[in-house]
Amino acid sequence: MDKLLITGGHQLNGEIRISGAKNAALPILATTLLTDATSKISNVPHLQDIITMMNLLKKMGVNLELDDNFNIVADSSNINSFNADYSMVKTMRASILVLGPLVTKFGKAHVSLPGGCAIGARPVNLHIQGLTAMGAKIKVENGYITAEADRLHGTTLCMDVVTVTGTENLMMAATLADGLTIIENAAREPEIIDLANCLIGMGAKITGAGTDTIRIEGVEKLSGCNHRVLPDRIETGTYLIAAAMTSGKIRLNNTDANILDAVLLKLLESGATITRGDDWIELDMQGRRPRAIDIHTAPYPAFPTDMQAQFTALNTIAEGVGMLTETIFENRFMHISELQRMGAKIRLEGNTAIVTGNRKLQAAPVMATDLRASAGLVLAGLVAEGNTLIERIYHLDRGYEQIEAKLTQLGAKIQRISD
Ligand code: UD1
Repeated sequence: MDKLLITGGHQLNGEIRISGAKNAALPILATTLLTDATSKISNVPHLQDIITMMNLLKKMGVNLELDDNFNIVADSSNINSFNADYSMVKTMRASILVLGPLVTKFGKAHVSLPGGCAIGARPVNLHIQGLTAMGAKIKVENGYITAEADRLHGTTLCMDVVTVTGTENLMMAATLADGLTIIENAAREPEIIDLANCLIGMGAKITGAGTDTIRIEGVEKLSGCNHRVLPDRIETGTYLIAAAMTSGKIRLNNTDANILDAVLLKLLESGATITRGDDWIELDMQGRRPRAIDIHTAPYPAFPTDMQAQFTALNTIAEGVGMLTETIFENRFMHISELQRMGAKIRLEGNTAIVTGNRKLQAAPVMATDLRASAGLVLAGLVAEGNTLIERIYHLDRGYEQIEAKLTQLGAKIQRISD
């Protein structure tokens, strides 16, 4: 298994390009199950999760090819299987995104239950409830969701909890349902808007994406999509923090500051100067140490849970005391014990981490436990004294395209060690 070796203490300076958003590309790839036609999807990040989704779709008969720029060209004329096996779903929970499209387009699906994961239980009850309310007959047996339906019908769904992939699954299902579906208490993430724009390009009738009420008037048929995936706001935020922690100055291109407001406000609070343009963001710490900040995670547009581990890392070396409260996932503090092994002063009280900034961290061998926790450890390694060895970085490869190449370009000393 690959490891990362980071020699800390190098200030980050320079510019890099941000990749397309993993969490938008995954549902957008699943839209290829809603059509018989050919789709073209660009700005898709080259990541393990994307490869997993492509393998899943290929098994169902979608013919996927890459052109020279890693644009994905998908031919959906020969879909002949409606199964998502446990072997696939267990490696990537977002595989559940095939459920809504399969049920609405083919009237059948056999999809493994994702089960829990390192950061929490992560049930899919709201995906199932929503599809049932739209007329699907669903059985959950032997670890699998088996769904059957004639044409789904529109209805009003009021989501008990704001769920991102739940909203996406039901929005996709509603595009081909009979009549009007209204999703109330919908997630408002930028990735939902990107998916809606992709579906609208295919002929779907959707209004309200980006608000908490989405209305979808079902149509008979969708054409293929031709869509460019929006930039990855979590990757963007992670590199901005890397610059803030190393007191550096970086410019990120091919990104969008408008989808990062909550994160940028926290970075301003920590002492960064931020300049933004149409498709770039520049962060300058002017050589200063960041100030500690308080964070409370909540659904978009509030502060994203996917940035909590990175801000925990920032607080470990910041001036002052920062409190981080996690409200979305019940077990998303696994980076803390690893950061403590690097000398971080962190106290955990329920779902709040209280971090007292320490000017220096010490390098130590550490273990990545989930995707964003791994990013927090990389950030800590960038500022620690000595060589930090991070094991199990396959988690990182699920969500960060060419992380060591991008950090090297910014002046970090980081190398991948393959066994
Ligand atoms: C998505 C993101 C993930 C991010 C998360 C929260 C993708 C591929 N992944 O995950 O990176 O961390 O949003 O922003 O987009 N819940 C239920 N029942 C359900 C569904 C969810 O109770 O049927 C709960 C979850 O346990 C959690 C909360 O709702 O507490 C939010 O989870 P959700 O938004 O569904 O996360 P994902 O869509 O899996």
